[in-house]
Amino acid sequence: MKAAVLILSDKGAAGEREDLSGPALINWLSQQDVETVRYEMIPDDFDIIVATLTNWADDEFCQLIITCGGTGVSPRDVTPEATLQVVDRTLPGFGELMRAESLKITPMAILSRAMAGIRGKCLIINLPGSPKAALENLEAVWAAIPHAVDKICGDKGDCADLYRQIRESKSR
Ligand code: MTE
Repeated sequence: MKAAVLILSDKGAAGEREDLSGPALINWLSQQDVETVRYEMIPDDFDIIVATLTNWADDEFCQLIITCGGTGVSPRDVTPEATLQVVDRTLPGFGELMRAESLKITPMAILSRAMAGIRGKCLIINLPGSPKAALENLEAVWAAIPHAVDKICGDKGDCADLYRQIRESKSR
């Protein structure tokens, strides 16, 4: 699986803040054997986010786009709205699980409006912006991502077979 990481940060894009979340995500993904083939930081601007997500998903150079930042409640936090604009179908379970697991860690988890969806053959997932929050949220939903990507790319295999294989490998 190939991934792209898109950091949303006005300060980061203006060179006023070092991005620690991108490198942390890329490192974590590499530990799951996922290569990050594109990594960019752009401002919290609805039109720029829409254009970037659209180009990346339609180019089909990756199967997974992870956005990081701009999911909160400040006026410039527009990543979920931009994501909703570009996806063909939403995947509400990702946001539900991220918030449910994150609420075990911090009551502030409720402030993330992160969502996920599918555009063409690409899975797009929002994560909150701090390195800690980004990794905690990605870890919460990771188990479903490889299978989701296979299905989005047209795998017609039986889901039950996959879960049988996972159960068998765990019991070994
Ligand atoms: N989720 C986890 N797991 N850990 C965190 O530290 N921080 C929260 C929330 N989700 C957090 C979290 C906070 S403080 C905010 S404001 C929101 O994510 C939105 O973050 P964002 O605006 O950087 O996207």
